Amino acid sequence: MTTFKKQWFGTLSKCFGIMMLTATTGLSAKESAKPAESIKPLYKNANANIEDRINDLIQRMTLKEKLGQLNQQHPSRSLNPNNKVKGKQVVDPTIGSYLHKNISLAKRNQLQKMTLDRSRLGIPVIFGEDIIHGCRTLYPIPLGQAASFNPNLVKKACQMAAAEASAMGIDWTFSPMVDVSRDPRWGRIAECYGEDPFLNSIFCRASVLGYQGNLSDPRTIAACLKHYVAYGLSEGGRDYKATDVSIRALREVYFPPFKAGVDAGVATIMSAFNDINGTPASCNRFTLTDVLRNEWKFDGFVVSDWCAIEELIKHGVATNKAEAGARAINAGVDMDMIDGCYDQLPAMLKEGKVKMATIDEAVRRILRVKFRLGLFEHPYAEQQVKPFLKPEYLELSRQLAKESIVLLKNNKSVLPLSKNIKSLAVIGPLANDAENTLGVWRGKARNADAVTLLQALKNRIGKTCQIHFAHGCNIMGGTTDGFDDAIKAAQASEAIVVCLGEWWRHTGENGSRSSIKLLGHQEKLVEELAKLGKPIILVLIHGRPIDLHTIAPKVDSILAAWQPGTQGGEAITDILLGDYNPSGKLPVTFPRVVGQIPLYYNHRNSGRPHQGKYKDLKQQGPLYPFGYGLSYTTFKYSHLTADKKELSGDEELLVTVTVKNTGKRDGHETVLWYLRDEVGTYSRPVKELKHFEKQMLKAGESRVFQFKISPKKHLSYPGDDGKPILEDGYYTLMVGDLKLRFYYKAKP
Ligand code: NOJ
Repeated sequence: MTTFKKQWFGTLSKCFGIMMLTATTGLSAKESAKPAESIKPLYKNANANIEDRINDLIQRMTLKEKLGQLNQQHPSRSLNPNNKVKGKQVVDPTIGSYLHKNISLAKRNQLQKMTLDRSRLGIPVIFGEDIIHGCRTLYPIPLGQAASFNPNLVKKACQMAAAEASAMGIDWTFSPMVDVSRDPRWGRIAECYGEDPFLNSIFCRASVLGYQGNLSDPRTIAACLKHYVAYGLSEGGRDYKATDVSIRALREVYFPPFKAGVDAGVATIMSAFNDINGTPASCNRFTLTDVLRNEWKFDGFVVSDWCAIEELIKHGVATNKAEAGARAINAGVDMDMIDGCYDQLPAMLKEGKVKMATIDEAVRRILRVKFRLGLFEHPYAEQQVKPFLKPEYLELSRQLAKESIVLLKNNKSVLPLSKNIKSLAVIGPLANDAENTLGVWRGKARNADAVTLLQALKNRIGKTCQIHFAHGCNIMGGTTDGFDDAIKAAQASEAIVVCLGEWWRHTGENGSRSSIKLLGHQEKLVEELAKLGKPIILVLIHGRPIDLHTIAPKVDSILAAWQPGTQGGEAITDILLGDYNPSGKLPVTFPRVVGQIPLYYNHRNSGRPHQGKYKDLKQQGPLYPFGYGLSYTTFKYSHLTADKKELSGDEELLVTVTVKNTGKRDGHETVLWYLRDEVGTYSRPVKELKHFEKQMLKAGESRVFQFKISPKKHLSYPGDDGKPILEDGYYTLMVGDLKLRFYYKAKP
């Protein structure tokens, strides 16, 4: 482990800190005239305490060197070949961080070397990149990962992504994204773990632990919770828009996943683009300092989102970059991504609008993460032999994709397909589309890495089954010219798999949609195919809940496969052929129509729950609710029991339920435990997920699942000041279709 990231630059470390500055450094003559030190300074002593190392280093730093640490830049700024003075590449030797955009390992190490060689103090650069659902090996998008209800797999996926990323010289990922979202119009819903704060918290913890492990291990990377905070509430699902959010919603819905990440030891946090009740997230002292630092004791650093500090000007809360910079740093944003606003801080210091102590504190937080990562000892990443797409990564990617796929409909058990099937139509614009199979944040993946559905089906059953492929139509726009071929393919086949969905650019950042239906001629294609009277299986490749209310009745089976990643085609095929029994459950509500948005399971009651309905809708609820997902087998829940009817103080309540696999196939079942606090000082949600557990049950097998309810953890909710409120009264426990009531009182 320690030898892994040994410097391949050999003697470089000896040069650390003893370089005199060249004319390219930009430091003043006075600053650069400091003599080289003969004794190794404390901050370079790997065995010294990190806080002592930071103190030692900060007191040696000039203002320019400090501001450099607060600066993150695109590497093109330094790698531009025209950027030369007297034949020498110009780098800013004080720079704190580079993005790792489209640079090779060699370039990354070269940039690091140039920085270290030309800097006075030898502070290594931290390289950050968007490794969101994998690096070279891609896993399903986070929304899909959440459908697996399997945080252990997600933790492993993040560990593997970290191993691939660190082999490319990436020290830090801008992930996980834990903005709870209840608006499927918002493209970025693809990047979070769904609509539920608890689910986001669980997966947040898993991914932070996965990426970071032991942070100083060179195969791990620093994680970054984003986008802090309430970005998922972007008005109308339009990206970057304002959010009006109550303190109760912040405390109950939007803060908890971030708090879970802080408790898991996350190294960094990204401030969001959105305005929160009139104070943009990137200059919001309440969220960034009062809550994050003072309440939660977060001691890593906050980076702004891309140009989010300069955007304070457009938000209308600063007149120029200097003012924007002052607002951001005073609120608690430590590192400025890209826009260079912090270069203007000297003027703000002079005017007394920023204090030196504030700058020092930001530098301190950034250095702390660099020391924790071991960057001072191991600034270079080592070239490795075949570090990407390892068999175990591909296997995990396939497993996670399988577990994330949700079976939404399966009439007459059309699925799984018989292994003896002799002819199969595979139709649709996404059936052989590597780019969309890989998903929205492509990391460092290449299209050739992906296995599409068509490829997988051909490989698996192509020898015994005639596969008739037809494109049918485009994902959007285009014509119906391809319908004839599609119908011919279908006519020649026993069953039809039609693979439809969305373009990946209509998901993720700036990927909002006003409709959540399938676009172009896709629905029409299904209508035509349905006329043939053959079994139709709809496979969706998508980044959000889709409005399926008109298409669902026309098909026999539906698989929500999300954007499934590198092994997507294999995973879908595993399910189509019954090699894996689907176990995914929806982490987000599928509305019937876009007009129902926002629609989510954990809403509060109104005073007239049976009124206030849409007059133009026959059915008011969702098409598929949160937690929904079918299996090729069936499960029966019974014997819900509690070890007492009343509990008090810190006493715990043990509840158990028996789940029986009543079908003929083995299968995984995720048991979801919900609670409702019947009467509170504040109105409480009609149900809240508090615990879940996924287990494999053999056909015919019964298992007892249990949930230990601890009052402080499961019955309390946050007050406006963040302090927990725990109230006497009745609570209802819900699991499957069973319910149980119990009474809690604080004092025995
Ligand atoms: C903007 C996006 O909002 C954020 O998620 C991403 O990490 C940064 N750009 C860096 O690429």
